[in-house]
Amino acid sequence: MKIIRSVAQLRDAVASLKAEGKSVGLVPTMGALHAGHISLVDRARAENGAVVVSVFVNPTQFNNPTDLQTYPRTEEADCEKLRAAGVDIAFIPTVEEMYPEPDTRVFDLGQVAAVMEGPMRPGHFNGVAQVVSKLFSFVQPDRAYFGEKDFQQIAVIRRMVELEKFPIEIVDCPICREADGLALSSRNVRLTPENRKVAPNIHRVLAESVDKAKTESLPQVKQWVIDTLNSYPQFEVEYYEIVDPLTMQPLSAWNESKNGAPVGCITCYCGDVRLIDNIKYNL
Ligand code: PAF
Repeated sequence: MKIIRSVAQLRDAVASLKAEGKSVGLVPTMGALHAGHISLVDRARAENGAVVVSVFVNPTQFNNPTDLQTYPRTEEADCEKLRAAGVDIAFIPTVEEMYPEPDTRVFDLGQVAAVMEGPMRPGHFNGVAQVVSKLFSFVQPDRAYFGEKDFQQIAVIRRMVELEKFPIEIVDCPICREADGLALSSRNVRLTPENRKVAPNIHRVLAESVDKAKTESLPQVKQWVIDTLNSYPQFEVEYYEIVDPLTMQPLSAWNESKNGAPVGCITCYCGDVRLIDNIKYNL
């Protein structure tokens, strides 16, 4: 596996892979890699001749400076995992390499970014669009892989791809969970031991709500999820919305979705750690 830190070397190395006739899969990450990331790499490996993984904690997508400072950075362990997973190139740039000058681009992300994480984390999705569009233009992959845990982020990236007309297939991959149901996240390591025990209740309650949805209205189910989680002293629900899976627009009835099964998207503090998760209502 090549570890590359400059954009020029990245372009050269990718050009060599393409000259060998290999298709290229890109897995953008912010490091602190876990089994969820490796599942994206495995999928990319299975579907492409070569795999590039970027490891970059992107400052422009953090609207909270403490979150940026405390975001886990584990480069050595990350490289070991990527090497073991058969990655061809790990691209690990500095902030100066990615942003030699401030990125002032403002993307018209439209309605998919106007709800949920959009208003809660102003500027976050624009920052994601900035960094992912840079990675896409450096690597020009055939396919790029993203985890469904960040369900709204995938819709935002699809919108950015449409705006920029990138000929890249966006592949969304299922959430990976711990045995107790907690969605894998680089932030889980920041949970206290006590809160780590409580955190799987987010998925448990969401899963139970799918059963309730067979007999109860969407507003009733939504309120039940919020009230049940908030009854734990460790939790504080920031939002729970049940949305159309493509437009991300909140629904008020189960049959209102125009694009398939409604998806419930939650952001919930567990102590001071902000966790996100989601569930499909295949009714
Ligand atoms: O999902 C993430 O880890 C990040 O938002 C991404 C897509 C790597 C962009 O920095």
